[in-house]
Amino acid sequence: MKKTFIALMCCSASICFASDTDVAPFREAIKAFGGNLKSKLEVAVKEGGSLKAIEICNTEAMPIAEEHSQKLGWKITRTSSKLRNSKNAPDAWETQVLQQFEKRKANGEDVTKLEHVETVQNSDGSKAIRYMKSIFISEGCLACHGEDLKPELAVKIKELYPDDKATGFKLGDLRGAFSITQPVK
Ligand code: HEC
Repeated sequence: MKKTFIALMCCSASICFASDTDVAPFREAIKAFGGNLKSKLEVAVKEGGSLKAIEICNTEAMPIAEEHSQKLGWKITRTSSKLRNSKNAPDAWETQVLQQFEKRKANGEDVTKLEHVETVQNSDGSKAIRYMKSIFISEGCLACHGEDLKPELAVKIKELYPDDKATGFKLGDLRGAFSITQPVK
């Protein structure tokens, strides 16, 4: 089953191969990275409310991703087609996978479980295993990504991210994805 959907989902932006990669280590890495982000966010909300937590997301989300990347020797990031921080912008391959996730969700797949893995060949001939896993909107996200932001939060977000596109989400929406690139040696 897994192999079937991977073969069907194979991209067209780069040379790629149907892959029977074991995704368990990627799932583990995302659990650790996502858990780390979530606990930082929860502590910040508890200590200083959502306003304070926005600052924590602003200053710590990137360094946390960097720390996990270094530890693993992989690149691990978050991306989205509706961005808050333009530094999280998807590349061509990620854009295509995000579109696939939206389609699969529309076709009734569970948004909490969408994932995709592929071995891609870079333009210099090197190969990498690339993996993405959906990030979805739960209750705790709505204060900062939902439809009705408190005015003081909306002001703070506009101040830090003048081009913010990451509001207006509803429960169960696809917010974006975790993305891992593992170089193949
Ligand atoms: C306290 C406000 C706040 C809450 C609550 C919050 N976020 Fe965010 N989110 C932010 C900020 C600020 C950024 C920009 C971080 C940066 O600069 O890297 C962000 C960025 C992101 C990104 C990276 C992509 C992008 O648009 O830059 C994702 C994905 C994301 N949030 C998902 C979630 C999810 C899922 C939840 C709920 C589990 C959540 N957020 C809860 C404030 C929040």
